[in-house]
Amino acid sequence: MKISVYGAGYVGLVSAACLAKLGHRVICVDVNEEKVRLLQKARCPIYEPQLPELLREQIQKEQLVFSSNIKQAVVNSELHIIATGTPSLANGSADISQVEAVVSSIVKWITANATVLVKSTVPPGTGDLLQEKIDEELVYYNKKIKITVVSNPEFLREGRAVYDFLNADRIIIGGEAPSLFLVQSMYKSLTDRGIPLLTMSRCSAELTKYAANAMLACRISFMNQISQLAEVFDADIGEVAQGMGLDPRIGPHFLQAGIGYGGSCFPKDVRALLHLIKANNINANLFEVIDEVNQEQKEWLFRKIKNHFNSLKGVCIGVWGLSFKPGTDDLREASSLVIIQKLLVEGVRLKLYDPLTIPEAKSLFPENEALTWCNSAVAALEKVDALVIVTEWPEFKNFDLNRLKQYLDKKPIFDGRNCFDLSGVIAAKLFYHSVGRPAISEAFYKEKKCS
Ligand code: NAD
Ligand code: UGA
Repeated sequence: MKISVYGAGYVGLVSAACLAKLGHRVICVDVNEEKVRLLQKARCPIYEPQLPELLREQIQKEQLVFSSNIKQAVVNSELHIIATGTPSLANGSADISQVEAVVSSIVKWITANATVLVKSTVPPGTGDLLQEKIDEELVYYNKKIKITVVSNPEFLREGRAVYDFLNADRIIIGGEAPSLFLVQSMYKSLTDRGIPLLTMSRCSAELTKYAANAMLACRISFMNQISQLAEVFDADIGEVAQGMGLDPRIGPHFLQAGIGYGGSCFPKDVRALLHLIKANNINANLFEVIDEVNQEQKEWLFRKIKNHFNSLKGVCIGVWGLSFKPGTDDLREASSLVIIQKLLVEGVRLKLYDPLTIPEAKSLFPENEALTWCNSAVAALEKVDALVIVTEWPEFKNFDLNRLKQYLDKKPIFDGRNCFDLSGVIAAKLFYHSVGRPAISEAFYKEKKCS
């Protein structure tokens, strides 16, 4: 099948490469010419496991090409996939202008019947709006052809995007025949392998995407709220999550308390859903709380650190991890940004280390003398008064705790991602504050000696 993909970001690039791998001829278009130039040289602009190899392979086989010429893509494809961004507007609603811009270009250049597949996350009703816009613009251009909009929300995760695309839990398609058949045949090699494909109405498909993300965000905020209670009672949120997760009605996933969800999707999608609910005069309390708990939780580390030190002025803190989760170079809405900002305001000096995001992070905090950018986890431990863990990269989780003791001695660790078992921490005699678990502090060791 001849397919064009509009937007070469996490979703567009991965979809384009994977669809090429499935045997389609794909042209991927982006307005960012620098990105296109890199891709034309088979260089991957984002960190995503398996993607660079896949891009090289498919470019070499001439199954995949990149272009900034949208006309070239439109006239050469029968199926058009939109994967541009849908960021938050100031009021929280989703900005669908990039999607609309692509649709207008398609209508402008199209010469034959076509199907437009919307992979970007868009509010329910957007497909209907786009269909109306397309029909009006076709009349304006006096084109006697039919373009049909189909919704195909994407559920991949960053850091596992290629795997998720090729091994999806489910494929959701919202729309009507005959366009649906075309999309079904695009995914045939995946559905032949047993991946379920659900067809539904366009609005149901659009709403499914928001509901799925909001449910996952809700579970995280739920556990973060419970973790605050766990701290009051010296309970262990990890044990609580394990006990809950064995109930098959609950399941074990997305029960990990931490310092809030970040990334380019959960925060913006919860806000968009919240906006949509309010705009339709429905009580939005539940979604307000998911967002509020998340924002509060992003300040958890800061509150802990502030309560520990009498004054933060001149204190030097090592920071491990900046990306919004391990396995990605994405800093969008990362909890690290909130924490760094708050500590800087208090006059703290920071030694920052992340395996992937230092260049991008540097550009967000230009020329700040309070920040030292480190090229190793160990460098961020030297001469610090405390260590803060923001992202649970494997190199931090696997760090030898006795070695950590040599660097930190009695200086505290504030771990926002519960990287270490408490038994290991106690054996290494570290001073450790984690989320929803008993503090391993001076008082803890004193009490242990007494008992
Ligand atoms: P992104 O910001 O990484 O990439 C979007 C790309 O679209 C950019 O490269 C941009 O230059 C390009 N673009 C903008 N306007 C364009 C136009 N008119 N023509 C061609 N290209 C254009 O975004 P993303 O993370 O890939 O997300 C895209 C959509 O998919 C969003 O709606 C997001 O909510 C959704 N989504 C994202 C993920 C994820 O893990 N990132 C997962 C599922 C769904
Ligand atoms: C998420 C969803 O998992 C994908 O299904 C969806 O397609 C995507 O959003 C999207 O719509 O963009 P992603 O943002 O890549 O994927 O990352 P997740 O692995 O879901 O993590 C999101 C955030 O939640 C991270 O900050 C992570 O640290 C946090 N998290 C996750 C927790 O705090 N606790 C958990 O138990 C799980």
